[in-house]
Amino acid sequence: MIRFHEDKKVFQLDTTNSTYLLAIVEDEFLAQAYYGEKLAEPITYTLRLDEAPFTPSQNNRDRVSFYDVLPMAYPTHGIGDFREDCLNICSKAGHSVVKLAYQSYEITTGKPKLKGLPATFADDDQAQTLTIKMVDQAIGAEVELAYSVFSDTDAIASSVKVRNASKDTLWLEKILSGCLELPAGQYDMLSLHGSWARERHVERREIGFGYQGVYSKRGSSGHQDHPFIAVLEPNASQASGHVYGMHFVYSGNYMAQVEKNQFDSVRCVMGIHPEDFSFKLEQGETFQAPEMIRVFSATGLDGMTHALHDLYRSHLIRSPYLHQKRPILINNWEATYFDFDADKLLSIAKEASSLGIEMLVMDDGWFGKRTSDNMSLGDWVVTESKFPDGLCGLVDKVNELGMKFGIWFEPEMISPDSDLYRAHPEWAIAVAGSTAGLSRNQYVLDFSREDVVEHIYQKLSKVLHSANIAYVKWDMNRPMADLASANLPADQQGELSHRYILGVYQLQERLITEFPYLLLENCAGGGGRFDPGMLYYSPQIWCSDDTDAIERLAIQEGTALIYPLSTMGAHVSDCPNHTVGRNTPFETRGHVALMGTFGYELDVNRIPDSDKAMIPQQVALYHQYADLIREGRYYRIASFRETHWYDAAMVVSPDQKEALIIYVQVLAKANAKRNKIHLRGLAENMRYAVANENFSALGSTLMRAGLLVNDVHGDFCSRLIHLKSV
Ligand code: DGJ
Repeated sequence: MIRFHEDKKVFQLDTTNSTYLLAIVEDEFLAQAYYGEKLAEPITYTLRLDEAPFTPSQNNRDRVSFYDVLPMAYPTHGIGDFREDCLNICSKAGHSVVKLAYQSYEITTGKPKLKGLPATFADDDQAQTLTIKMVDQAIGAEVELAYSVFSDTDAIASSVKVRNASKDTLWLEKILSGCLELPAGQYDMLSLHGSWARERHVERREIGFGYQGVYSKRGSSGHQDHPFIAVLEPNASQASGHVYGMHFVYSGNYMAQVEKNQFDSVRCVMGIHPEDFSFKLEQGETFQAPEMIRVFSATGLDGMTHALHDLYRSHLIRSPYLHQKRPILINNWEATYFDFDADKLLSIAKEASSLGIEMLVMDDGWFGKRTSDNMSLGDWVVTESKFPDGLCGLVDKVNELGMKFGIWFEPEMISPDSDLYRAHPEWAIAVAGSTAGLSRNQYVLDFSREDVVEHIYQKLSKVLHSANIAYVKWDMNRPMADLASANLPADQQGELSHRYILGVYQLQERLITEFPYLLLENCAGGGGRFDPGMLYYSPQIWCSDDTDAIERLAIQEGTALIYPLSTMGAHVSDCPNHTVGRNTPFETRGHVALMGTFGYELDVNRIPDSDKAMIPQQVALYHQYADLIREGRYYRIASFRETHWYDAAMVVSPDQKEALIIYVQVLAKANAKRNKIHLRGLAENMRYAVANENFSALGSTLMRAGLLVNDVHGDFCSRLIHLKSV
């Protein structure tokens, strides 16, 4: 609920458990007066406006000290606030001082869309939005800050729109999406760090003086860092303590920065990375910056996780598959790589269907002359020699087996050895007159161009209309470099990366509009573009090219910290694992994949018989637990990162009558065949029976005294423990 307290000039934004206060100071500045546990009254004393150097002097004597210390709602460039700012606009006169003054506000029901961008949504009775208008008279810029609260989650969504209200051209040099100010204190920062095949590992460190943060300048959100940070009280844990989270609903370059300043207070900012960014605004034009999510939790990381999971499940993912079981798929990438044809795929499909697998996904290698990753990206025409009966012939046969069919594309890329490149070399992102750098022997198509997006759309749409295709895996396998567009004028080259992402969004929007029942799975060399922006278009994203069950524990722990399990693409693959060479039990691989979308990434005709014999049981487990895993409330119970022994997570059904625990003993320990884990999220007074064991206990007992996990022997072994109320 949002209120404006006229007497105090304070906007109060309440979620179920938190309050965010914005105060108008001296009829001019917008300050952040409070963010934390829910308050019953508006306050401004937290701004300490009567104390030096906080005092905004009436005679202008110490203005700059004041600017440099006020907790700003949306700090701007060049006025004397020397901390990281959010907005820098270069005027025709060449200066870039932006001094915003409060002008007006509006409180509306619902949640407005953001043009061309992914964003949270809500019905009118589920959300309220506060829009505050700020103006810089000198350069003629109008800024709208929008904040939305939801009735069913503790998250707040915010965004920023700038309008050129002057008669001259303005250049946006930097426009971040949000700022969060925290009072003086000691904090930790939590981020998700990684690399290819090692995405989103949890990283926690003490916040020291100066800058610290994460970013991507790769053109996508990337494998290396994640557009997310959390700031925590030092003693905050999984289930207790104060946690502030910030998450960016965007798939391109970003920065997320935390800065502890001279007065021990902390400013966090997040938005499009300003490097290589500028955006020209002619008179009357607007720029909409992407949305940022902020969350406050007084119940540790759990509270933040649940607020984000709830927000994304109820207000971001639009797919009709959101609340449906996803078909159990088998993907041929690790089974065949590029070495396949229709017969080979059919033989996999036949065996897979007899085991209960429901969809065949044909990965990279079906188009043009593609026999390796050296050619044909852009030539989205099926290779006739591999498919004598055409794509439709194969799909029909797969359908006759009772299976659905899915296909792989990498729409944003172009191989130098492709008909498309020979016809349109200028469609690749490159500096004219210089040789652009290749990565995986491919260039990036200039998706800032409408003609390029239109061409690729036509090609994809033709393939999708040519056969009964139920699923698309949209891949993206290289970072962007040599940033230059043959289509943009010199003073708009800084718009390329952002326009590129808008092109990607536009194409995905068109596809899911034209094929509303298509199950879209985003992917970028594994989990290199796993972000909330992508979730607006696809309900699931391939988590990582690393399918090793043990590496996946860390990847899925970091991912599930902020994303629902229903979004995490997870498959059982063959051993030794192709990425790390590790051997793990087939059962463990199944249990770990069950905590995501669940599928297979292997050749069912070539795995050991003992493994194959387990597939029908795993399929049965999926059908038994898919609803619970998809809709349930997730709790991280233990992390191998901390225990150096075992890893455990659980999901609890919304009515708390059922729970499922996945327990993996990563490294066995002497004299420790039994372990005790403390569960969370159960109903205190409900009695739960443990499946296949003659044991039951109250929820309160299992949470306080713990649950014994029995007979775990050996490295990499796992247990799936099901609790049901009796
Ligand atoms: C990277 C993806 O993550 C893999 O799953 C696979 O689709 C390959 N690309 C294909 O080139």
